[in-house]
Amino acid sequence: MYYLDSKIENLHRIFDQNERKGFLRLDLNENPGGLPQEFIDDALKDVTPQFVAQYPETLHFTEVLANFLKTDVSHLCLVNGSAEGIRYIIQAFTAPGGRIVGVVPSYFMFQVYSEMYGRDFVKVPYNEDLTMDVNNIIKELTDETQLLILLNPNNPMGNVYSEDEFRNIMEVANNKQITVLIDEAYHHFYPGTFINYALNHEHVFVTRTFSKLFSMAGCRLGYVAGWPEGVKMVQKLCTPHNTNAFALKIAEKIIETPGMLQSLIEKFKEGRGWLIEALDRNGYAHKGEAGNFLFIKTKTDAQIIVERMKAEKKILIKSYPNVGEFGTCLRVSIGEKKYMEKFIEALLEIDKN
Ligand SMILES: Cc1ncc(COP(=O)(O)O)c(C=O)c1O
Repeated sequence: MYYLDSKIENLHRIFDQNERKGFLRLDLNENPGGLPQEFIDDALKDVTPQFVAQYPETLHFTEVLANFLKTDVSHLCLVNGSAEGIRYIIQAFTAPGGRIVGVVPSYFMFQVYSEMYGRDFVKVPYNEDLTMDVNNIIKELTDETQLLILLNPNNPMGNVYSEDEFRNIMEVANNKQITVLIDEAYHHFYPGTFINYALNHEHVFVTRTFSKLFSMAGCRLGYVAGWPEGVKMVQKLCTPHNTNAFALKIAEKIIETPGMLQSLIEKFKEGRGWLIEALDRNGYAHKGEAGNFLFIKTKTDAQIIVERMKAEKKILIKSYPNVGEFGTCLRVSIGEKKYMEKFIEALLEIDKN
């Protein structure tokens, strides 16, 4: 008998149509400039037919990564973008109908995966002033809760958790035997991390990606860090050879090239500083403590600005509805200063009453 899972049939997904060639893309938190061309040329110069023909060798790269993170390979699982790791954690560590607690707004795939697997995603909202009260998270950690999802920093809110806040949350999660997933996709833009919890405690995972600071979204590479038994469970769900050899090669070169990461961080900081200064100078309220993105409260309709930026300026940005006191506002990805200049010039021209 033919069968179709009704959860999949009813699932609402938005697929990127990928017609973004020639656009300045400030909508998906990629690095608009990317890595230096010479760096890419150099990374690819010894690509041979055999390199392309063979399945990727993941152990070598996992060792490089383990060394970089000062851990060992048993704590790491490579995934085809961190979105893949997030999915497997939800699949393995929660049951059908199981309770998952997460903040909103946030990276939407947490809700999509919860729906896909028939889990109950409980939303903890932000305060009107766009701050997060951790007591509201703790209140939702009932005995039935199986998974808590935290993002540090959160996309799109840009907020982070202090050590004390995090410790308080973890204490309750531990007592109630709740697995904790900390999404650190935007680590490096912000140096604070809770990866030591994942490396030193059971039932805590950190997911990270090479799509953001490492500027490799087109290659698809991420990892799950956690306790060895938990990591093994995630590994079991992976498709065979789930990561690709080009991604591993470029990521290894970034990690092993002295000064490379630092130069990416510096360019980002310069772009961020310039953007914030320009917004302040022109009377725009903005929000985003950490991460390579900012919320901007516009003077005119944010959705119309998104459409006009695309049609008239070939700049892609996003609008978000119901963002507390910001109402409907823009979320703009931060890149090098030259891209921020282009964005501000266009914003000042379009956002006029
Ligand atoms: C918070 C967060 N987590 C995870 C991801 C997924 O990243 P990737 O699958 O490219 O590693 C994103 C992508 O934008 C994100 O914003």
